[in-house]
Amino acid sequence: MSENEYLARIKSDPQAAEAYLRRKPAKHRAEMHMLQTAFTALGQPGGTVLDAPCGVGRATIWLAEQGYRATGIDLGEAAVATAQREVRRAAVAATVERRDVFATGYAGRSFDQVLCFRLLHHFAQPELRERLIAEATRVADRHVLISYLSPCSYTTLRRRVRQWVTGKPLKQYPVSESELREVFERHGFAPLLRVPRNRFLHSLQLAVFERAR
Ligand SMILES: C[S@@+](CC[C@H](N)C(=O)[O-])C[C@H]1O[C@@H](n2cnc3c(N)ncnc32)[C@H](O)[C@@H]1O
Repeated sequence: MSENEYLARIKSDPQAAEAYLRRKPAKHRAEMHMLQTAFTALGQPGGTVLDAPCGVGRATIWLAEQGYRATGIDLGEAAVATAQREVRRAAVAATVERRDVFATGYAGRSFDQVLCFRLLHHFAQPELRERLIAEATRVADRHVLISYLSPCSYTTLRRRVRQWVTGKPLKQYPVSESELREVFERHGFAPLLRVPRNRFLHSLQLAVFERAR
C-alpha cells in the first residue's frame, strides 16, 4: 500500500466519518455481538479497555455502556471529533483521544484489554501488521482482541477472482490464523479464543490473544 492509499484510510474527512455512523444497522449489531461474545468469555467486567482505532466511537460507546472504562483512539481528526460528540450524545463516561495506533504513547501494560477492530485488514504488508500488533501487545496487560479477514470466506475468494480478472489491486487483505498466531507469540501472547463464526460465510473474524509472559 502506498503512503497515499494508507492515509486515505484515516478518517480525517467529516463526510467519511459521518458515513461510518450510518453503517447498516444489521451489520453494526452483528459486529457488536461479536464483541459481546468475546468480552463475556473474558469475564472481566469493569476493566480498562483501549479501543484502537475507535473510528466514530461505536465500540467505545458500547464498551462504556457495558461498564468498562473505555478509551478510544484514532488518528483521523474527523473521526475523533465525531466520536467525542457521539460519546457526549450517548451520555457515557469514555475518553476519546487523537493518537496513532502504531505509537500510542501509553506506558506498557496500561490497559487490561486492547481491542483492535476493523483495521488489520487494511494493511497489505506483514511488517505493518506486525508493528500494529507489537504496539497493541505492548500496551495490553492481559488480552488483545483483534479482527481479521478470513482467507477462505466466500467474499475473499470472490475478491481474489475479481482481482485476477480485472487486475485491480485488493483493498482489503485477509490474514491466516497461523500468521496471526506466530506474530502474537513473538510478542509474548498466546491464542485464547476465536469468536465462533463460520470462516467460509463470514469474512470478518475476531480472535483473542492472552499475555503468556
Ligand atoms: C474501518 S475504521 C474502524 C473503526 C472502529 N474500530 C470501528 O469498527 O468502528 C478504521 C479507522 O482506523 C483509523 N486509523 C487508520 N490508521 C490509523 C492510525 N495509524 N492510528 C489511529 N487510527 C488509525 C481510521 O481513521 C479509521 O477511523
